[in-house]
Amino acid sequence: MIGAASLGAESASAQTGAPTSPSRSTRLTVNGRTHVIVHEARVSLLDLLREQMALPGTKKGCNEGACGACTVLLDGARINACMTLAAACDGRAIVTVEGLASADGTLDAVQRAFIAEDAFQCGYCTPGQIVSAVACIREGHAGSATEIAEWMSGNLCRCAAYPQIVAAVERAAAELGAAGRAVHPSGAVQPATVLSVRAG
Ligand code: FES
Ligand code: FES
Repeated sequence: MIGAASLGAESASAQTGAPTSPSRSTRLTVNGRTHVIVHEARVSLLDLLREQMALPGTKKGCNEGACGACTVLLDGARINACMTLAAACDGRAIVTVEGLASADGTLDAVQRAFIAEDAFQCGYCTPGQIVSAVACIREGHAGSATEIAEWMSGNLCRCAAYPQIVAAVERAAAELGAAGRAVHPSGAVQPATVLSVRAG
């Protein structure tokens, strides 16, 4: 359990004398582990992951739902964590980029494909691209380069590595095939289904 003592935003508010919002207690299963976390009611899932759960892999780009850098899986569906209240995720399962590799550190097929295709430059968008690609493949939206480009269009890359990103998704989809869509370690991707992920 991660307690209120780790609430960085609350500490900052206390230092400035600004009022803090009411606290909430939220139960989240993140990358296969369940936590009960006390947090400000207004905190986003993105800030909760990064600032209270020490999971900085999920990036903050625009912080307004426009870039996809903060993409995570919520009960298998890809979402923008910056636009999601942590309190709204009570009882739900989240997978971040940190949860994709196997327990022994072996990267999953999508992660390996991004490396093989050199699908990044600065890398800032990459965690969101990879998580989104996992869902894209599992949704069955990786049948062609055109389809991948369309269904990955919510993830922007300021370095314009789009051709390599599409190639990486194609490579991973080819490796995973139908079996991969069924048993990817990040679990089911159909919305409203519960993820079955490895214990982190
Ligand atoms: S940081 Fe969430 S969409 Fe840009
Ligand atoms: S690799 Fe730099 S933003 Fe995508």
